[in-house]
Amino acid sequence: MQDVQGLQGTLVNARPGDVLAPLPTRRGSDGWLAPAALAQATRCCTERGGLGLSVSGSLVPTYDRAVTSPALEPFTTDASSGVIALLRSHGWSYDQVVGQVEALEALAASENGLALIASTANAVAAFISLQVHGWNRLAQIHGLAVRQDMLRRGLATRLIDAAEMFARDRDCRGIYVDTPVDNEAGRSFYAARGYSEDYRMSRYYADELDGITYVKFFRGADPL
Ligand SMILES: CC(C)(COP(=O)(O)OP(=O)(O)OC[C@H]1O[C@@H](n2cnc3c(N)ncnc32)[C@H](O)[C@@H]1OP(=O)(O)O)[C@@H](O)C(=O)NCCC(=O)NCCS
Repeated sequence: MQDVQGLQGTLVNARPGDVLAPLPTRRGSDGWLAPAALAQATRCCTERGGLGLSVSGSLVPTYDRAVTSPALEPFTTDASSGVIALLRSHGWSYDQVVGQVEALEALAASENGLALIASTANAVAAFISLQVHGWNRLAQIHGLAVRQDMLRRGLATRLIDAAEMFARDRDCRGIYVDTPVDNEAGRSFYAARGYSEDYRMSRYYADELDGITYVKFFRGADPL
């Protein structure tokens, strides 16, 4: 399943004829938006007691960038140790790492959550987790990180694009995310992806470390 980069057709349950529709099988111009559809389909399948997924219809050609970059897949608990290794390599504290893994596990199992990873050589190369808040129709990125040897290859961009598509499919008005004030890479990344700096929260990460919240509102989203 991880070879799938883009889909045309319908994702169906293992039970013949049990169509899991409507699913977000539409794709972007670059054809790699299937992971969000796969994440949702996997959940639907599990909820309906299905044994697995199959694809009805044809696979669309992969996007060039995806050929050299790992496919995005739904997070499963098997990937937890890979996520821990990735975050430890960035110097994140034990508590931060545990919080990220707990969020991934909870959001992977939630109808309002998205948890995606990308892997290379059996190791987790990147992940993202996102929660849709129904009450204000905003989505929140809980975690996003890329392994050191995979930085600046567009991997985080692919993950955040998939997350934005998931949020748009859930009728969200926009996305927000917080990051430490001293995280220059993170702040530059969000700015490059069209997020604007919104507010600073004192002592959010630690007594000596404030948080900065970035927001991106989707053009054309309906007002509340
Ligand atoms: C922030 C992070 C997720 C970016 O991942 P990435 O896969 O390297 O990002 P991309 O390759 O998609 O970068 C897209 C654009 O963001 C900007 N950007 C990304 N990293 C940057 C950096 N270190 N410095 C300046 N700009 C940066 C650039 O404009 C880049 O485009 P370019 O490479 O064509 O110049 C990664 O550095 C990371 O995992 N950091 C540790 C965890 C973290 O900080 N998470 C996010 C905040 S909590």
